[in-house]
Parts: sequence; C-alpha cells; structure tokens
Amino acid sequence: MIKKAILPVAGLGTRFLPASKSIPKEMVTVVDRPAIEYVVKEAVAAGIEQIILVTHSSKASIENYFDRHFELETTLENKKKYDLLKEITEILPKNVSVVSVRQPQPLGLGHAVLCAKDIVGHEAFAVLLPDVLVKDTDEKNDLSLMIQRFEVSHAAQIMVEAVPEHLVDQYGIVDVAQSPNEGESIVMQGIVEKPAVGTAPSNLSVVGRYVLPAEIMQLLENTPKGAGNEIQLTDAIATLQNRAKVEAYRMKGQTFDCGSKIGYLKAVLHYGIEHPKLGEEFKQLIQELKL
Ligand code: G1P
Repeated sequence: MIKKAILPVAGLGTRFLPASKSIPKEMVTVVDRPAIEYVVKEAVAAGIEQIILVTHSSKASIENYFDRHFELETTLENKKKYDLLKEITEILPKNVSVVSVRQPQPLGLGHAVLCAKDIVGHEAFAVLLPDVLVKDTDEKNDLSLMIQRFEVSHAAQIMVEAVPEHLVDQYGIVDVAQSPNEGESIVMQGIVEKPAVGTAPSNLSVVGRYVLPAEIMQLLENTPKGAGNEIQLTDAIATLQNRAKVEAYRMKGQTFDCGSKIGYLKAVLHYGIEHPKLGEEFKQLIQELKL
C-alpha cells in the first residue's frame, strides 16, 4: 500500500516573481486557499497518509499552514466563530501527518526526491510536483488509479498528458508504442527530459505525478547531472525502466500549471466558478466582463 508522498517545494519560483520574492509560490492562493492545499488534498484523496515536504529555509509558511495555530484557534473559539475554527482545524484528516526535510542545495528534482530517502525507507511512494494542480471530476482521482495500478502490476507509474508538439521541450516526454486511453497505463520504452522540438519520441508529457518503487532512491544516488545541469528524476526513471517495468498512465483530469502566471489565472477561474460559496457570484462577474 502506498501511504507516503513526496512534495518537492524547495524551488524558488522564479517564474512567479515578483509575488514569489517573499511568499512561497506554493502559498499563493487559488480562490481562498493556497495552491499547495489542493495538491496535498489530491494526495490524501488517493489514500496518502504521510506528506513529506522537501523544503527550503524561506518556505516555513508552508509547514505553518499544515500545523496547528493555537492563538488563532483560541481567539476564534472565544469569539464563537466555530465555522472558521472548523475550517482551519480540519484542513487535513487526523490520520494524515506532514513532515519535512530540507534540500540544502538546488541540485534538481531528482536530488530533491533523494533528500527524502531516509523518510520513505523501503516503501514505494508517490511524488507530486506542487506547481501543477490536477483537477479530477471522477470520485476516484487519477493518482488513486495510478496507485491501484501499481499495486496490481508492481510497475512504476508516470502520469502523462498530450501536449502540442511545439511545447515538448518544456517537459519530460515518454516513449510508448501507442498512446494509452485516458485512465489507462501502457508499458514505457523510454523517457527523456526536455527533448528539442522535432526530436521527441511522442507528445505525451510528464505531468508531475509519479508512483515509484523505493529502488529509485539508489538509482538517484548514482544519477549524474543531466538536462539543465541538474540531477533529473527523469534520468533515474530511464535507468529504472531498463531493469523493471515502468508504465505511462494517461490522465483523465485537467491540469493547471500554477508555476506560470497564465496557468495560475486559469486555475483561479476554474476553481472559482466551482467554489461552493463564491461560485455563483463569480460566474456572474465573469458574465459582466464579457459584455
Ligand atoms: C519537471 C520534470 C519534467 C516534468 C515537469 C512537469 O520539470 O523534470 O519531467 O515534465 O516537471 O511540470 P520542471 O518543470 O521542474 O522543469
């Protein structure tokens, strides 16, 4: 059973400056909660019970958000603001814990995942990149389907979605014999980080959700710097795929790249119109803007 998820949050968010100069990009709000909460809830909905933040000294507000806030709780209680009290104390279910480990140097995503080696131990685990929000409509989200598939096939699962050909150089791209249907997995023949346009093996891009065996940690330890002069998770997965079955899982949901400003605005629109309290009024606002 997969119970642990690594969320690498040490990145400085240069794509989101100036906001990310003093606020972690993961704490920028999408409607009324920080972007990271959506990612953590996605993991929890898939059965994850331990969230492992791989973080940086400038990002303590992420840990604070998932911790108790005694003074605030007491104040809300004294003022009988029970709805708000419930909201801030029930961000996560009681069986879910959040732990953190530092990434002391920005050596890449592969290195960030490796920083959590001692915490995951011998267990298989999930990785969720917090820039990307995944919006699922089905009761079982994409990550839970990947976990279910991993438990049956024991093959690592890499979530992918199709992207336009001219954007392949921004992503990890997988090599598969044929594109799987949405919600299904297919054996991968290869994976390459940010291939030049015209050289990519497909247009199926790595979204930033992975289910990986513990063995990947040893492979990461021996992975040299790759694209961008960083230790790439993609390169360790390519090595794993030479020794064991690795599968690409084609997602059903929709992605929002909140690491980019336009992706962030899109996310605010989509999550805003579905907000249980604000949605109707927000939709009206959008209608008014159209006039
Ligand atoms: C990382 C991964 C890449 C993946 C992407 C998804 O790249 O290395 O394989 O496609 O996330 O957002 P980054 O965006 O950190 O450069």
